[in-house]
Formats: sequence, C-alpha cells, structure tokens
Amino acid sequence: MREWRRAVVAVVGLAFAADRRRAWFAVVAWPICGVLGTFSSLWLKLLVDGAAGGDRRQVLVAAGLVAVSASVALSGFFISLTAMTRVREEVDREIDKRLIALTGGVLGVAHQENPEYLDRLELLRTGRGELADVVSALSSFLLFALRILVTSALLVSVFPGLLVLPVFALPSLVLTGRAQRLIQHAEERTAADQRRALHLFDLATGPSPAKELRIFGLESTIAQRHRDLRRAVDRQIAKARTAAAVREAAGLLVFGAGYVLAVGLAVREAAAGRATAGDLVLALTAAAGVRDQVGGLAWTVGSLAAGKKAVGRYLWLVDHAEVVRRDAQAPGSGPPMLAPDRLADGIRLSGVGFRYSADQPAALRDVDLHLRAGSVVAVVGENGAGKSTLVKLLARLYEPTSGHLEVDGIPLRRIDPASWRARISAGFEDFVSYELLLREAVGIGNVAAVDDDRAVTRALHHAGADEIPDQLPDGLATPLGTSWEGATDLSRGQWQKVALARAMMREEPLLLLLDEPTAALDAETEHALFERYAAAARAAGGRSGAITILVSHRFSTVRMADLIIVIAGGRIVEAGTHAHLLARGGLYAELYEVQAEGYR
Ligand SMILES: Nc1ncnc2c1ncn2[C@@H]1O[C@H](COP(=O)(O)OP(=O)(O)OP(=O)(O)O)[C@@H](O)[C@H]1O
Ligand SMILES: [Mg+2]
Repeated sequence: MREWRRAVVAVVGLAFAADRRRAWFAVVAWPICGVLGTFSSLWLKLLVDGAAGGDRRQVLVAAGLVAVSASVALSGFFISLTAMTRVREEVDREIDKRLIALTGGVLGVAHQENPEYLDRLELLRTGRGELADVVSALSSFLLFALRILVTSALLVSVFPGLLVLPVFALPSLVLTGRAQRLIQHAEERTAADQRRALHLFDLATGPSPAKELRIFGLESTIAQRHRDLRRAVDRQIAKARTAAAVREAAGLLVFGAGYVLAVGLAVREAAAGRATAGDLVLALTAAAGVRDQVGGLAWTVGSLAAGKKAVGRYLWLVDHAEVVRRDAQAPGSGPPMLAPDRLADGIRLSGVGFRYSADQPAALRDVDLHLRAGSVVAVVGENGAGKSTLVKLLARLYEPTSGHLEVDGIPLRRIDPASWRARISAGFEDFVSYELLLREAVGIGNVAAVDDDRAVTRALHHAGADEIPDQLPDGLATPLGTSWEGATDLSRGQWQKVALARAMMREEPLLLLLDEPTAALDAETEHALFERYAAAARAAGGRSGAITILVSHRFSTVRMADLIIVIAGGRIVEAGTHAHLLARGGLYAELYEVQAEGYR
C-alpha cells in the first residue's frame, strides 16, 4: 500500500510539475463531467413522471436538464479530454527532462554500464510512455468510482432491491482485471524477445551493420530470426488475448443474468403500482450503465497495475541517484572540498579494489600506488586486465569497493565530484563522435572556450591534428557526421584525433586520462604524438603538478613514461621505468620482447 501511495504521489507530482493549471483542470473536470452524464437517468425519470402526471413545468424543467447536462457533459468531456492529452504530453516531456537529469546527474556511470541495472534503465527509457498513461488512468479511476457510487445511489433511491446489480457486476470486475493481467503477463514474458526482435530489426535496417551483413551474407539469417521471434511473441500474446476474452465474456454473462433479474424486479414493482413509469425508466437506463462503469473501473485498475511497474522503475532511478549521492559523502567527513589548484604530492591509492557487481570477480584488487605529481604514467596489460577500470576510478566514474584514493592527502571522496571533474580531462578509445561543427566537437572539451578558435586550433595542434581543418570545406565551421545535410564525415582515425583534441582543450588539468585514445592511429603517428606530448606534459607538470595517465598497448609509446605500471588479473604485478622493468626480466620484458620481435 505504501508503494502504491508513493507511486501515486510521484505521478501526480509529475503531472502538476509539468503543467499545473491543466493538471488541475484535467483531474477535476474530467471526473465531474463524467459524473454529470450519470444523472441523466434521473432527469429522464422526472420527464416521464411529469408527462404521466400532466405536469408541464416538470416536463420543461426536466427536458432542460436533460439537454443542459448532456451538452455540458459532452462538451466538458471533450475539453477535459484535450486538457488531459496536453497534460499527458507535458508529463512525457517532464519525464524525458527528469530522466536525462537523473541519468546524467548520478555521480558514477554504474547505472549505465552495470548489466544488473542496464535492463531496468532500458525498460524505463523505452517504456516511459506508460508513466504518462498513469496520469489519465488515475483520473479515469476516480471517474468510474464516482459514477458507480452515483448510479448505485440512484438505483437504491427507486428500488432498494436493485443494489444487487452492482453485486452481479463484481464477477465482471474481477474477471476483467484477471483478463488484463493475462495480457500484461504475456507482454512481460515476451518483453525480452520483443527487444531482441527490435535489435534484429535495427541490425537488418541500420546503416552501421550494413557492411558486415553483406560480407557475411547474414541478411536472410537475420530476417528469419526476426520473423521467428515475432511469430513466437505474437502467438503468446494472441493466446493471452483469447483467454482474456473468454474471461470477460463469462463476467458479462453473469452481469447479463443480473440485469434480466433487475429489469424483471423493476417491471414487477411498476406493474403492481409500487413504482412510477419514471422509476422504471431510471432503473433501466442506470442499470445499463453499471456494466460499462464496472468494466471501465476494471480496465483502469489493470492499466494502473501496469503503470505501477513503470513508476517503480522511475522511483528506482530516483532512489539509486540518492543512494549514490549519499554514499559519495564519506560519513562524518564534513562538507565537500574543492579540488586543489595544483598537485604537490600526487595521487595515492591504498588497497583499492573494485568489482562491477557482487556476483562478478574483482576487476581490480589490492592496488597500492603512488602517482607522483608532474609525472607521465603508462599503464599496460592484456585485454581485460583492469586498465580502464583503474582509469574510471581515478575519474570517479565509480567508487572503489574497497580501499581509498587520496589527492594530495585529501580523500577523493571528500572532494566535490563536479570540482574534481572540472580539473581532469580524458580521451577514451570508445570516444564519442559528436555530430557538431568541428569547432564545437573539439571546443566542448572546455565548454567555456567552445567558441575560442585559438584555443580550438591549439588543442588540434596538441592532438597532432593541424591538418583536419585544412582538409574540410569550411575549416572549423564544417559540420561533421552523416546526420546533417552538407556535413562531412571523417575517417575513424580523424574522429579519434578530434576526440583527442577535445581532451586537450582543458589547459593544465590536474589529471589527464588517456585510455588508448590513439588506438585508431598508426604506431608511428602515435609515437611522434606522445613524444611531443610527454615533453609538454612534463613542462606543464612542473608548473601545476599535473599527472598524465596513458593506457596503451604499444610499447614504443609506453617506454617514454616516467613510471610504467603492469596490470594482470586486476593486480599490479610490476611497476617501474622502462629500463628497470626490462632489467627485471618479468612480464613487461616478455611482452616488450614479443612486440619488438614483430618490428624487427
Ligand atoms: N561495465 C562493466 N561491467 C561489468 N564488468 C566489466 C565492465 N567493464 C569491464 N568489466 C570487466 O572488468 C574487467 C577489467 O576490464 P577493463 O575494461 O578494466 O580491462 P582493460 O584492461 O581496460 O582491457 P582492454 O585492454 O580490453 O581495454 C574485465 O574482466 C571486464 O570483463
Ligand atoms: Mg580498456
């Protein structure tokens, strides 16, 4: 029940935050107009009784009421329907806004990378329309509940015995609810297959898989799998629909029997002169409405149950964001601090361990490390060793599961995350290809300087990409990508240089994280680039104590670092300079030899 209350409060809150005025109107006007219509049985009774008794005034008043209430109910219904549609749209937009803010606002990226969370986030993303539907389902619920109350009261006022009619409608209510749930369960059961089918459809029709699909001749295989999945899904849902229809029909049959009984009862009373013709009219028209009202109530209960799941996922994200926010503050550590202006000692990791989720092996364990201020540190290791994980912990995209990180003696947890992120910069292998103007695609590395062409040109120079603007039709003002008309697409290596230039936009960050940012460049370009870069980094490091972390598989690049860390199976197995590690004759020396062999 508490869950329900929280869900209702959240959704109503969303509706009012989205559009306060229309939300009031929709929530209040919608049920009122609906209930007004229910009274028409009463006006009809007055009309018939007036006519039978020769009371002209009553006939006129009743006819007026029938006309007014019908037109008010009808026009009010359409106006509130329009308002409701608008509220629904506004809620949709508000949800998008909040989801963007929430997903981006969560301190780390676990919710976007962790397989445990991904499914939920994906369901929330794709099923967010259901959230907005809850708003109209809630007012419809109110509407049908009110109508049933009014109708029951009217029936009882003329024939107390007719109160049995809503009782006959109960099986229909229960069975319709069951029928709804059957369909919902089928939808849920097939949700994963539906997503898989959608993925196959995207594969078959999207632009990026086209090349591989042709080469491997996968078109018909994918089409076949898509067809099979869709067929299996449709079959399950159709089966559930049939079972649902049988239940609804059974409910209707019971209600039909009750209706016949009620009509017979009313007719007998009227025939015996214990009721007027108007009473009979009221009973017949009101009774006919009961089934629709009960059916409507059952239907809204069903869609509310579906909506509750969507609301639950939304509230999960809200809670997750809050838990992460609270966890980020070390208990009793006082208010967050700002990142230091410059580094004197550097960054120390003590006993740092990390696992992506409880049921997975540790990606990092027992990492003790001193990253000296002003140094260039290279990280090497085989695929899956834990290099990128270390980088993500330093950027505070994840919190370590054990141990801690200190920046010049201050626990990283105590430093305000935004302030820390403002003082670091990064280039990743899986960079983003921003389809913006070249100037912007580079400049957003330091949003404050996005329009500063000199800063952008300098960053391109540091990334060894001086030639890119010269090769493009409009230089820095060239739109990049494939989604703009007149835009120019870049090669993968060029895109990567743009990403690297973006990482160079922040001048003298305290920490520059380069996680294989040059994997798409040839070895020679990478080597030349980093030779120049390392010299510049050491000069900058001398001023601000900046640390550069470079992850690379190329030993020709790695060898110039001040410190080389070798990671294997999540542990640091060796650390030292190139000469030191070669002399040691361990894993580094072995890997270096293998690669050097390839160049001989
Ligand atoms: N988002 C994630 N969720 C769950 N496990 C992950 C995630 N990212 C990485 N891992 C796991 O953590 C381990 C270390 O991964 P990491 O990305 O740090 O390796 P890496 O050394 O950077 O490898 P590569 O050279 O291939 O980039 C791997 O076993 C990987 O499967
Ligand atoms: Mg990696």
